[in-house]
Amino acid sequence: MTITLQPMTEAEFAAYQADQVPDYAQQKVRSGQWPAAEALALAQREVAGLLPQGLATPDHRLFTLRDDDGQLVGWLWVAEQPRADGARCAYVYDVVIRPERRREGWATQAFTALEAHARVRGLAAIGLHVFGHNHGARALYEQLGFVATSVVMSKPLDGA
Ligand SMILES: CC(C)(COP(=O)(O)OP(=O)(O)OC[C@H]1O[C@@H](n2cnc3c(N)ncnc32)[C@H](O)[C@@H]1OP(=O)(O)O)[C@@H](O)C(=O)NCCC(=O)NCCS
Repeated sequence: MTITLQPMTEAEFAAYQADQVPDYAQQKVRSGQWPAAEALALAQREVAGLLPQGLATPDHRLFTLRDDDGQLVGWLWVAEQPRADGARCAYVYDVVIRPERRREGWATQAFTALEAHARVRGLAAIGLHVFGHNHGARALYEQLGFVATSVVMSKPLDGA
């Protein structure tokens, strides 16, 4: 099986956002960072801020992930950014495999393809954020050789 990373069309971008922005909002609520009532609006604002020109936003690339038959297995959103030391790195804003296609190795394939591309581009590293409660994704990243560079912690206070 071979994965193909296809640049998203505008229609696919709209479908991706409709599907994934509410999910991101939910993750923020679950992690205790945003109140449920405001989460969707906050998520929409965050994504709009990151992608002010949508698919045409410089240095951001959004892909659909497709299997050998061209079927949609997921989405990948990656950007190329300078690190504090000036080195250019890839940053994965989002990777999602459709629920019915998980544990088939597609995310591993997507990261293998991304890593090869990043090496060709001369990038120094691939970075990403993962929610602490996302044990599946953390297991994936550890298996792929990612290590935690910082851990942000939070303790909810009564009444807050
Ligand atoms: C996390 C996610 C991208 C993994 O995609 P996937 O295609 O199922 O991952 P792979 O099949 O390549 O998994 C490779 C390995 O990662 C680990 N892994 C992946 N998902 C796991 C899970 N839910 N629980 C435990 N380990 C997991 C396993 O070691 C797995 O190997 P195995 O299946 O042989 O045991 C997918 O579950 C997903 O889309 N989740 C929702 C969105 C999300 O959380 N994205 C990450 C944002 S940071």
